[in-house]
Amino acid sequence: MDRIAIEGGTPLFGDIPVSGAKNSAIKLMAASLLTSEPVRLTNMPRLADTRLLGRLLTRFGTQITESDGADGQETLLHTPEITSAFAPYDLVRQMRASFNVLGPLIARTGHAKVSLPGGCTIGARPVDLHLKALEALGAHIDMHEGYVFAQAPRGLKGAEIEFPFVSVGATEHALMAAVLAHGTTVLKNAACEPEISDLAECLNAMGAKVSGHGTTTIVVEGVASLHGTDWSVICDRIEAGTYAVAGAMAGGEVRLTKVRPELISILLDKLVEAGCEVHRGFDTVTIKRSGAIKPVDVTTDVYPGFATDLQAQFMALMTLATGESVIKETIFENRFMHVPELGRLGADIRVTGSEARVHGVAELRGAQVMATDLRASACLVIAGLAARGETTVNRVYHLDRGFENLEGKLSACGAKIRRIKGDTPVMEDE
Ligand code: UD1
Repeated sequence: MDRIAIEGGTPLFGDIPVSGAKNSAIKLMAASLLTSEPVRLTNMPRLADTRLLGRLLTRFGTQITESDGADGQETLLHTPEITSAFAPYDLVRQMRASFNVLGPLIARTGHAKVSLPGGCTIGARPVDLHLKALEALGAHIDMHEGYVFAQAPRGLKGAEIEFPFVSVGATEHALMAAVLAHGTTVLKNAACEPEISDLAECLNAMGAKVSGHGTTTIVVEGVASLHGTDWSVICDRIEAGTYAVAGAMAGGEVRLTKVRPELISILLDKLVEAGCEVHRGFDTVTIKRSGAIKPVDVTTDVYPGFATDLQAQFMALMTLATGESVIKETIFENRFMHVPELGRLGADIRVTGSEARVHGVAELRGAQVMATDLRASACLVIAGLAARGETTVNRVYHLDRGFENLEGKLSACGAKIRRIKGDTPVMEDE
């Protein structure tokens, strides 16, 4: 397995271009199953997760062509017909989001057999809301031997669905299934994440009739069929936020480019509280820090709150603050797996339930650490940038799922970071 070695203590100076969002790209790829015409996605990140989903879609009959175009990396997806509506365990367990092919498969073919995604290190992460939404749309669902068998031979029917709590995955899933349903669907208590709006707008560009996305009520008027389109993937706000925190942690001056500053507004406010200078441009953000890091409390929440996917990275920053900060995780029950690893670098953190108290220390010291999931890996890299001596992050395959060319982007700003090649990993769900 590859490892990443970081010699800490060098401030970062330079530009970091932000890639297209992983969490949008994989849903847009799944949405391409809804039409027999080609869908061309531009500003596409090339990640382990997009490659994996590509492998799954190929099994359904999708032809995939990757190229470099005027608007960056492109992926052309074309599914003239669904040749199989079967998603096997081996592929689904490696990436939970691939479960979301279920909705588009039933909407397009009237039937599907998709593996349940299985366990996960950050929490139980059930899919009951996804299945209830599909049932409300008229799908008949059976489960045996770890598989979901879904059928809607006469098509799906519009319905009013009120989610008991906000779920990004279930909102996206219901949306993708509803666009080809007969009649109108109303999704209440829907998630408002920007990646959902990106999906809804791409579906509209394909001929769907979706409104209200970006608010808690989404209305979908079903249409008989969708057509192909060209769509540019929204910028990755989690990648952007990760590099913003990296700049704050290492010190220096980092400018993020190809970013939408409003998507990481809450994080940027927190970085200002922590003592950084932040300048928000039209599609750039500059983060500069030369003084001490001040302690700042954060509580994760659904968008536009503080993203759970940035919690670990922000905690890394707080390990060097001049006092105590409290970090509360409200989305997942087990998302502090990075705490013991930060402890190996000398951090002082105490966890009680869903709350972590971080007592800032004078310095972190390099050590061997192990990544446990995608965002936790990023937090260890960020901590390594500021630690004295060498930090080696093991199990880098987690990072490769969601960060394109991480070591290249950080080295371009002067970080002393390199990849040590190892054997090909067996990927696991995070
Ligand atoms: C979540 C995050 C998203 C992040 C992603 C990857 C939120 C609201 N969601 O999205 O920002 O990018 O993880 O880290 O911040 N749940 C159920 N039943 C379901 C579906 C979900 O109980 O059928 C629960 C989950 O266990 C979790 C909560 O609902 O506690 C929110 O989950 P959801 O938003 O669906 O998770 P993701 O779509 O994976």
